[in-house]
Amino acid sequence: MRILFLGDIVGAPGRDMVIEYLPRLKRKYQPTFILANGENAAHGRGITAKIARVLLDAGIQAITMGNHTWDNKEVFELLEREPRVIRPANFPAGTPGTGITYVKSAQGELAVINLQGRSFLPPLECPFRMADLLVEEARKRTRLIFVDFHAEATSEKQAMAWYLDGRVSAVVGTHTHVQTGDERILPGGTGYLTDVGMCGPMDGILGMDREAVIKKFLTQLPVRFEVAGGASQINAVLFTLDSVSGRASDVERIRIDADHPFME
Ligand SMILES: [Fe+2]
Ligand SMILES: [Fe+2]
Repeated sequence: MRILFLGDIVGAPGRDMVIEYLPRLKRKYQPTFILANGENAAHGRGITAKIARVLLDAGIQAITMGNHTWDNKEVFELLEREPRVIRPANFPAGTPGTGITYVKSAQGELAVINLQGRSFLPPLECPFRMADLLVEEARKRTRLIFVDFHAEATSEKQAMAWYLDGRVSAVVGTHTHVQTGDERILPGGTGYLTDVGMCGPMDGILGMDREAVIKKFLTQLPVRFEVAGGASQINAVLFTLDSVSGRASDVERIRIDADHPFME
């Protein structure tokens, strides 16, 4: 079985690119499960109910979030109502929503866990200890477990992957919006990629308009960031798993843009 995971979807350009390419990605890779990070789906800031519905209707079975979870106020109601949209599990107790969901297929059930790092990000509960709790809970139901660890620091993401090696099928990082080239299967059978990258405008800075970001660096004044225009890209990853053991046997990075045309 295969899991296709799409990195942070950024604004309308990212959504349009995902909607355009999903049918072709499905044809080529025949994924059993399709997941995506949606923390920037609404103009770079959070997600709305309508956007979540469009992405779910397109075939994405679960949407993870991150530090931008609360940027759009609609998310409070959405997280309470829609179990397929999850937020980092290590937000403080009492926060709306949940950090784990289960996606069904004919070949078995996949647990999807969302956690957030604490290096260069707000001080949440410990993601490692939260991972222990959720993995233990998930393993009562399934050996197929996917973790989106939304984190800034490469070291924290590597640490999470090694910490969970042999206990989950795959750990991916999200948040930096730039795909890393270190995909591998760890010795215990956990597939890993430090950062999946984003789906969004490729000529912005992390998907946002360049001028504003450069102005911010030059002046340190408050600047309103807007999603960039121009050409977009898709950054994603595909894991092949053994449906009985849950171990990953293959991992493949996917990038689609003007320089990397999609080949069927
Ligand atoms: Fe993001
Ligand atoms: Fe983020």
